[in-house]
Amino acid sequence: MGQDTTIYLNNAATTWPKPECVYAAVDQTLRTCGSPRRDSRGGVDPVHEARRELVELLGAPDESRLIMTPGATYALNLAILGLPWEAGDVAIMTGLEHHAVSRPIRKAARELGIRFEVAPYTPGEPVDLGFVEATLKKGGVRLVACSMASNVTGQVLPYREMARLAREHGALCLLDAAQLAGVTPINIAELGVDLLAVAGHKALMGPPGVGALWIGERARLRTLAEGGTGGDSGTHAMSGAPPKDYEVGTLNGPAIAGLGAGVRWVREIGLETIHAREAELTRRLIEGIAPHPGVNVHGPGAGKDRTSVVSFTIDGVEPHAAAGALFERHGVICRAGFHCAPLAHETIGTHAGGGTVRMSPGYFTTEAQIDVAIEGVAALAGAAAPGV
Ligand SMILES: Cc1ncc(COP(=O)(O)O)c(C=O)c1O
Repeated sequence: MGQDTTIYLNNAATTWPKPECVYAAVDQTLRTCGSPRRDSRGGVDPVHEARRELVELLGAPDESRLIMTPGATYALNLAILGLPWEAGDVAIMTGLEHHAVSRPIRKAARELGIRFEVAPYTPGEPVDLGFVEATLKKGGVRLVACSMASNVTGQVLPYREMARLAREHGALCLLDAAQLAGVTPINIAELGVDLLAVAGHKALMGPPGVGALWIGERARLRTLAEGGTGGDSGTHAMSGAPPKDYEVGTLNGPAIAGLGAGVRWVREIGLETIHAREAELTRRLIEGIAPHPGVNVHGPGAGKDRTSVVSFTIDGVEPHAAAGALFERHGVICRAGFHCAPLAHETIGTHAGGGTVRMSPGYFTTEAQIDVAIEGVAALAGAAAPGV
């Protein structure tokens, strides 16, 4: 088989490649561990190991309240739809939310009679905190939901302030950490946040199909699924205690073991090193593409409080056509369209044009790969420029 010459710039969707230790942990667990927690042989429990790694990384004050889930989407659905909503309750979300937050909130509005407010946005102030505070002061707000970083613009949101405002006004705060966990430090205890969801397969380096939800003391969640927990088999009712009540059915042991290995790798390399590497690649990418006439970068400039997600449009080139050409001509794998976040595209004004092209370098991306991507974008912009 020939060498893979493609250039993977879609790490915001799923990081790839994974560190070798992740492949090894998945393989070893599949070979040696039959059914996590339902197996008389004992030994290392991959669920316990992964939970411990995550608790350390995220500064979670209570291990039993960190629930393993089949991904951030499930975690966010549980956090939102598991709340004891009453008709007329209010949820506040930002204008940059992913479907995994906005769709459950819309479902609660449709089916449970809650109302939701979308906090206004400007590029300089991605969440209008004055609006959030004024809405909280009116009363009836049960939940403030906020992405920690946008999967469309890479912008880091004022999540600390959102958590503080929610707490001060007696509302719960849910943070979607899918784009930030494994990139910058997160400390649940310091944030005082009630609910926080992570995706295992992004910067935490795990395989797809695994994630986690922090459920703080103040958040009383109904389960979304009932079934065997491996621990209370003799009774009809579930025990009523986290984490097992929220982890029903046979868990995805190999993926969870892979996540545990991924988080361990992140902790060993260090968030500062990972962030610095990605920031350097992101700066190179933005500074390489932004000066070309017709290229519009949507999101914070290089060096600002941002992740490695770089969204852009090229005048006269539809985003899917641009991504297609980048792959065909340069082997660059990126993502085009709405990135499961049409609300974010409405918010930043890119919806009508079909969204954006999104490139997201990862820790393993090289400078040479970024340079090929820059050349590709420059060539497309040049070809589309008037008079060319
Ligand atoms: C901001 C954000 N939230 C939630 C999700 C959903 O994560 P998962 O794929 O683990 O369900 C994603 C993944 O694309 C995301 O970028």
